[in-house]
Amino acid sequence: MNIKELTTTAQKPEIYTKGTAEMWVDDYISTQLLETHLNQQIDLASRKETTISSTVEWILNKIPGERMNILDLGCGPGLYTEKLAKKGHKVTGVDFSSTSIQYARKSAEKKNITISYKHQNYLELNEVDSYDLILMIFTDFGVLSPDQRTILLAKIYRALKPGGVFLFDILNDNFPTKESGLKGWELSEKGFWRDSPYLALSETFYYEEEKVILNQHIIIEETGKMETYRFWMHNFSNVDIKKILSSQRFCITECYDSVLPGCDMYRSEDVTFCTAIK
Ligand SMILES: C[S@@+](CC[C@H](N)C(=O)[O-])C[C@H]1O[C@@H](n2cnc3c(N)ncnc32)[C@H](O)[C@@H]1O
Repeated sequence: MNIKELTTTAQKPEIYTKGTAEMWVDDYISTQLLETHLNQQIDLASRKETTISSTVEWILNKIPGERMNILDLGCGPGLYTEKLAKKGHKVTGVDFSSTSIQYARKSAEKKNITISYKHQNYLELNEVDSYDLILMIFTDFGVLSPDQRTILLAKIYRALKPGGVFLFDILNDNFPTKESGLKGWELSEKGFWRDSPYLALSETFYYEEEKVILNQHIIIEETGKMETYRFWMHNFSNVDIKKILSSQRFCITECYDSVLPGCDMYRSEDVTFCTAIK
């Protein structure tokens, strides 16, 4: 192991510096993630089934409509898409994890539910005037850099029908940023990150001015090979979010607190749901 290189890698990076690898599309890690999505003990990767059911009810009360054309960005294993399709809507799910998309396709087939799944990076979405409602759930809007956000919002705007709604959730200013500064390590024969021995060095950093937390994980394999995984998480006030959406031509943005029942991760009071209209 090259300690000097490790010391440099472990420094607080300049904001939005990319890691060397992406966990969602890694063959091994994505199977671990699929288990996490489906785990009913914890609201991690996806929320628990009861929370998803109540969220879908909330969404359809907020945006009522018959046989809407709905797109779920970052749909994961299809936990929302299936519920929406069962309510009679025409649903498309997009995700760049082939593990999740394969699971979602099989699950829909088994349950005889018609859903269109696309294995695609949502930053490459290329549709025009197609959807009544576009969803992005589990605070994924906040993991994007401002540049990615601008690209995605332009694509969502284009893909919505006139009057269509973009509905998403964010971490709000209640989210405890003081949790930054945490450091931890894991030494494992086989675990979340690898199916072979590894050392994981994890640290969180806070970028106060931008209201961004970075969760950084450096994974070192037995051979000395090292990868860095970085997860950027923004928190937003209602004012922040309205400003961002209006700068991207959305006309009305509404924010709603207390949509989630008590969740263990993230807490209900830390999450705000938002709707923006084309
Ligand atoms: C935190 S999970 C949430 C999954 C789902 N929305 C839910 O709540 O059950 C984030 C999902 O977004 C997907 N994802 C992340 N970045 C993506 C991108 N650029 N394009 C497509 N999918 C992406 C991941 O593969 C993962 O399935």
